[in-house]
Amino acid sequence: MIRSAILVTSAALAVSVSAAVLHGQTPQKTTNSAVYTTAQAERGKAVFGEKCSACHDPARFTGAPFFEVFDGKALKEVWDIASGTMPEDNPGSLKPQEYGDIIAYFLHLNEFATGEAELPGNAGAMANIKVEKLKK
Ligand code: HEC
Repeated sequence: MIRSAILVTSAALAVSVSAAVLHGQTPQKTTNSAVYTTAQAERGKAVFGEKCSACHDPARFTGAPFFEVFDGKALKEVWDIASGTMPEDNPGSLKPQEYGDIIAYFLHLNEFATGEAELPGNAGAMANIKVEKLKK
């Protein structure tokens, strides 16, 4: 009996550990991992100009103001606010990938390196990337 209780407990642990990985609760990448493309950031800039700039200056998401809020957190924190509550006058009205593109634009504003692959517009991918300051 005791033995099977231990087995059950460790099986439950294994499940919760893999769920954590699946949900990206331990981010495997950072904003320094070249997680978006230049073309994507350009698209994001255009969407931001159209849908967000009536209320937000890009400076809000650049440098100190950005890191004060999001440093050390997963990009999912930005994603949840953006895709869940913005634009404030019409929340969730953009396509998921448009929110992803805007976040790529934020990374560009903060001068992070670009790579070959786009930043996917979904919560799982965002949870897997931790915001950290630019490594020069
Ligand atoms: C109608 C005005 C309005 C529009 C349009 C708007 N926002 Fe916002 N946004 C706000 C307000 C108000 C807040 C909360 C107060 C603040 O943090 O400035 C906010 C906060 C945020 C935050 C949290 C900032 C932080 O540092 O905590 C993010 C991220 C954000 N908005 C992204 C966006 C994006 C992306 C868009 C375009 C898709 C957008 N917003 C469009 C009004 C707006």
